[in-house]
Amino acid sequence: MRVGVLTGGGDCPGLNAVIRGVVRKGVKTYGYEFVGFRDGWRGPLENVTMPLGVDQVRGILPRGGTILGSSRTNPFKIDGGVEKIKDSLAANGVDALIAIGGEDTLGVATKLADLGVNVVGVPKTIDNDLSGTDFTFGFDTAVNIAMEAIDRLHTTAESHHRVLVVEVMGRHAGWIALHAGLAGGANVVLIPEQPFDIEKVCALVESRFETRYSPIIVVSEGAVPAEGGDMTLQSGELDAFGHVRLGGIGDRLASEIEHRTGKEARAVVLGHVQRGGTPTAFDRWLATRFGLQAITAVHDKDYGKMVALRGTEIVRVPLIEGTGELKLVSPEEYAEAEVFFG
Ligand code: F6P
Repeated sequence: MRVGVLTGGGDCPGLNAVIRGVVRKGVKTYGYEFVGFRDGWRGPLENVTMPLGVDQVRGILPRGGTILGSSRTNPFKIDGGVEKIKDSLAANGVDALIAIGGEDTLGVATKLADLGVNVVGVPKTIDNDLSGTDFTFGFDTAVNIAMEAIDRLHTTAESHHRVLVVEVMGRHAGWIALHAGLAGGANVVLIPEQPFDIEKVCALVESRFETRYSPIIVVSEGAVPAEGGDMTLQSGELDAFGHVRLGGIGDRLASEIEHRTGKEARAVVLGHVQRGGTPTAFDRWLATRFGLQAITAVHDKDYGKMVALRGTEIVRVPLIEGTGELKLVSPEEYAEAEVFFG
């Protein structure tokens, strides 16, 4: 048996641990051979491969990123893409493919499975918004990085009597913001699922200063003001302290808070720091177990499935479950955190 492996979409701490788990068990337990496809679906599309065996996965467990490289290439958006993928799998003697990725990568895997390709999926995103699994690896690492940043920002905010706005990743879901905000003792958490009332945010900022403490606001990159609550300042305008504000919601929010409250505010955009570097122990554990389960699924010829965490069990579910509706923070879960706001 010869198995292809690829990693697609945004990278994420733990990808190498999955690859290592797949290869170690595949070689040692089943005597399989592997071929690594470079840069997500671009690898089989352009037939760019690399050797993948026990030697290649040695020492990669603590390393962030992916030894296979990644891209957001989608073969279904390219003329003749699917045929090229099938040709490349055949040319490399690949009997089964393990695709490690998020919504888009698993979406491609689902369609290929429907076309008869032997594929098993492994879910991945730091955003933790994939359905079908309780957690994705990479999320815990991102939350810990954001929590450490919040811890550090508390002290500088207090020293300067400033508002600190921390923008974290999460285009559609506020999981990173909510978990890091709770863990770091943030005073306000704003997430995409709950459009925020800027007046209420400013009132919380002012009440926090009344208690002689400085507020820390955690905002997901995808958070938006509620309808009718448009913010006055636009990107690039000078704020009340003469700073030029650029770009994202973190900067806009800091400007708006200064403008409305007269309190000095700074924005910190954590960006790709949350995706880089070494995975936490939890993410190494989860990613390793996903890898072991994925190669076991191949051995069982249980194709068209995705591995998933349910409670403390690693299970297999239909690939389609990972590509359906995104898993969002419920109003109840958000409301529970509101007791800490202000
Ligand atoms: O989906 C994961 C994610 O990290 C999002 O949180 C973020 O919006 C996006 O990827 C960033 O993508 P890119 O690395 O392509 O800028």
